[in-house]
Amino acid sequence: MMNTRRMATLEALLPRPADGGDPAAVDALPLDGKRALVRVDFNVPLQGEVVRDDTRIRGALPTIAWLRERGAKVVLCSHLGRPKGKRAAELSLLPVASRLAELLGEEVTFAHETVGDEVVRLTRELAPRGVMLVENLRFDPREQAGDEVFARELAALGDVYVDDAFGCMHRPDASIAGVPKLLPAAGGLLVEKEVNALGLLLARPDRPYAAILGGAKVSDKIGVIEALARRVDHLFIGGAMAYTVLAALGHPVGASKIEADKLDVAKSVLDSCAAKGVKVHLPIDHVVAASFSERARPEVVDAIEPDRMGLDIGPKTVAAWSEVLSTCKTVVWNGPMGVFEWASFAGGTRAIAELLAASGGFVVIGGGDSAAAVARFGLADRMSHVSTGGGAALEFLELGDLPGIAALRRR
Ligand code: 3PG
Repeated sequence: MMNTRRMATLEALLPRPADGGDPAAVDALPLDGKRALVRVDFNVPLQGEVVRDDTRIRGALPTIAWLRERGAKVVLCSHLGRPKGKRAAELSLLPVASRLAELLGEEVTFAHETVGDEVVRLTRELAPRGVMLVENLRFDPREQAGDEVFARELAALGDVYVDDAFGCMHRPDASIAGVPKLLPAAGGLLVEKEVNALGLLLARPDRPYAAILGGAKVSDKIGVIEALARRVDHLFIGGAMAYTVLAALGHPVGASKIEADKLDVAKSVLDSCAAKGVKVHLPIDHVVAASFSERARPEVVDAIEPDRMGLDIGPKTVAAWSEVLSTCKTVVWNGPMGVFEWASFAGGTRAIAELLAASGGFVVIGGGDSAAAVARFGLADRMSHVSTGGGAALEFLELGDLPGIAALRRR
């Protein structure tokens, strides 16, 4: 059952800057008849001209509806993919505008340019409560360069600015960190929800507090592991990164994929957990196979033979971890426990997801593959919060702030 602990307000949880500036609340913005420039994260997977997964588009709907109800004209901007500052037909946001129109049941104006006089004219001609989307921000190299002139050109598309792109708030791009300096600015409803949930993990988690980390690389997550080690009581390490840690401790890992050049890093992570009194839990059995293949025959073993590779945590591990996790009142999970996309190696990830769904604690899924896993198992709405931002969520947990959040406080 989901924990119903009341979430604090955005203002209460956003980190306070040294100069004491307050973050703006979206309901403090003048909206009636105004153009609200909204940065959204419509970085969605496309198949040709079809949106393959519209979760991110749906995620922005509450803020869009909220702004329209208050009489605003909604001007949306987003990036799509990594076109490196050049136009790329296959990364146009046009298919996204079509999907958005279907979801809204309303016409969405699409601007084939991102900025410029013609786009400004379209924003001015937009009917009150109308919705428009401008072309991919990253077709212009100035977006990712954080260029101030580009930020000014974007700011000309709105009278107020709303950031609802939590998944991008770790990027100091012009649309994220520049525009809020130029217009009355606030976080949207999605950003507020994210900051509240992730902020609880930073501010006052109920204890015991556990972090479960998985995924491929220990080296990608060193910063967040170090930061979590200062806060959590238990750290569970699964997925491929567990084999690097086990190898660092001298355990046999056979042909498992490890980061052979990061064994010292893995060891130092364990040392810093030990120094902080954090209990580290590693897999005690494994689902292995002779090759990295969906069709490979799964076997459950306690010790990995030289010709086998670990592809999931085993049932003894799940049972041992369950005992501890069921006592935890706060859990954050990032990274799958095995190759959950393949049925034979999905058991560990599924078991952890089911356990957390039933735990009654405050459970946060930190985006990326673990969010995809809980969605695939149909358990997303049984979690307290599923973050829409993988990289952004991890960086927020590590640093306690993000460039996009800091920018909203600056005015
Ligand atoms: C994401 O998909 O994680 C966000 O949209 C950010 O995209 P980026 O990693 O290309 O900046």
